[in-house]
Amino acid sequence: MAPWLPLLSLLGLLPGAAPALPRRAAGAQAWEAESSELLAPARFALEMYNRGRAAGTRAALGAVRGRVRREGRGSLYSLQATLEEACNDPTVCQLPVSKKTLLCSFQVLEELGKHTLLRRDCRPVDTKITGAGSPQMLQSSGSNFIQGSALISLFQSYPDEKSENFRSFSPLFNKDTLPEDFVMQVASIFKEFVITYNRTYETKEEAQWRMSVFINNMMRAQKIQALDRGTARYGVTKFSDLTEEEFRTIYLNPLLKELRSKRMPLAMSVNGPAPPEWDWRNKGAVTKVKDQGMCGSCWAFSVTGNVEGQWFLKRGDLLSLSEQELVDCDKLDKACLGGLPSNAYSAIKTLGGLETEDDYGYNGHLQTCNFSAEKAKVYINDSVELSQNEQKLAAWLAKNGPISIAINAFGMQFYRHGISHPLRPLCSPWLIDHAVLLVGYGNRSDIPFWAIKNSWGTDWGEEGYYYLHRGSGACGVNIMASSAVVN
Ligand SMILES: *[C@@H]1O[C@H](CO)[C@@H](O)[C@H](O)[C@H]1NC(C)=O
Ligand SMILES: *[C@@H]1O[C@H](CO)[C@@H](O)[C@H](O)[C@H]1NC(C)=O
Ligand SMILES: *[C@@H]1O[C@H](CO)[C@@H](O)[C@H](O)[C@H]1NC(C)=O
Ligand SMILES: *[C@@H]1O[C@H](CO)[C@@H](O)[C@H](O)[C@H]1NC(C)=O
Repeated sequence: MAPWLPLLSLLGLLPGAAPALPRRAAGAQAWEAESSELLAPARFALEMYNRGRAAGTRAALGAVRGRVRREGRGSLYSLQATLEEACNDPTVCQLPVSKKTLLCSFQVLEELGKHTLLRRDCRPVDTKITGAGSPQMLQSSGSNFIQGSALISLFQSYPDEKSENFRSFSPLFNKDTLPEDFVMQVASIFKEFVITYNRTYETKEEAQWRMSVFINNMMRAQKIQALDRGTARYGVTKFSDLTEEEFRTIYLNPLLKELRSKRMPLAMSVNGPAPPEWDWRNKGAVTKVKDQGMCGSCWAFSVTGNVEGQWFLKRGDLLSLSEQELVDCDKLDKACLGGLPSNAYSAIKTLGGLETEDDYGYNGHLQTCNFSAEKAKVYINDSVELSQNEQKLAAWLAKNGPISIAINAFGMQFYRHGISHPLRPLCSPWLIDHAVLLVGYGNRSDIPFWAIKNSWGTDWGEEGYYYLHRGSGACGVNIMASSAVVN
């Protein structure tokens, strides 16, 4: 079978012929070599680079190129910059004084004028960085959006592609074997994506770059699909124009894998077997699916979801609770840079409760804590850690309510529907990076699943829900289960 045929089968994921590209993407100008918009984030990245360096040894900014992706109030800048490092202070310089040029990739998130450096990768220019393509990156490319040759040159100069999937598929993008039809079809699915998810790209160059990321992602999705042992379908999602790195830095939660959870008392286990299936959504214990936006605050959503359920079961009142309060006021955690449910429970106790979503609404970025104890509608008395045995977890859930868990989010960038069951080595239980909420379980055609409430909006997954294989410790679903206790 020709190597692109399996990929073509993915095209079925989006029906219909695509209308023309939105004007903005097609008609806009390419970035200037130094667009003024890139300077602020580039200077911020430089400042972070120079932080802690002695005067006289600080680097200066050379050329800057980059892309910007906007969503809501945030802009994510992916920059490539040259830094000139020259030592001007003879008391600290090594002799002979040398000048060094570095090529750096930065990712800078800007929200409301505030910058955060998400990633930095600098190497001396004289070592080979990305192979033959790299020098082209610093030149302007004004190639035509849909033309096959433009697409090929994009792939040849793909700047920070390190993924092995890409390498293993790269023969596909050999100029001699890439069929014209294929390029046209991929371009049309990309257009469909742009329309479905209301994407706007500022420039033609940005649109080209996003299309190359999109195509690469379709191949990643296809590979994940081929290796899935469940019924899940992977393909185009609203995250299909983000690189893996961008997706991780924005939506996932590195703290979860770095920190050990603070020990909490073990919950009393429930006697007797779990009912064959259970779903708290049809029992009124679960609020609607929320959206964390461009902020790694999944831990806050996981915890409010659990407390919402606990409060409902103890007090009979389903209140949508404030994640923003946790983002702003829980100083044990790191707001949009990640956190742990165990810390969040402590913070809720210390603060004196949670306000409602209505009283303390979600902004998706860190702001000054504005919690007021008089407005807290809900309190918790304690928190507990749950068993790692999935049958016991099911029994506890059916009796006591939705459970805060954390999982390895492997494949979720491209998850569309069905029961996900990745191979264990691909979805290690030890690389947990996303907190979510277990709300139910059951079987679909004899495949046991957990129903998981996510916080990426209803336009992801099955109306915002994720289904994961149950009974095999899939993706670490059982290893960080916890709950608040309301007396
Ligand atoms: C699409 O995005 C634009 C600008 O970001 C916004 O004004 C518009 O309301 C969005 N439309 C939909 C249907 O989401
Ligand atoms: C803080 O909350 C009070 C109401 O509790 C509100 O009036 C005030 O505007 C809020 N302050 C900020 C900075 O959001
Ligand atoms: C639970 O916490 C609330 C609020 O802090 C407190 O008023 C209540 O007495 C506590 N209940 C128990 C049984 O400790
Ligand atoms: C669910 O599927 C599993 C595996 O096929 C099977 O062992 C179990 O009995 C099923 N449970 C129900 C309630 O059908």
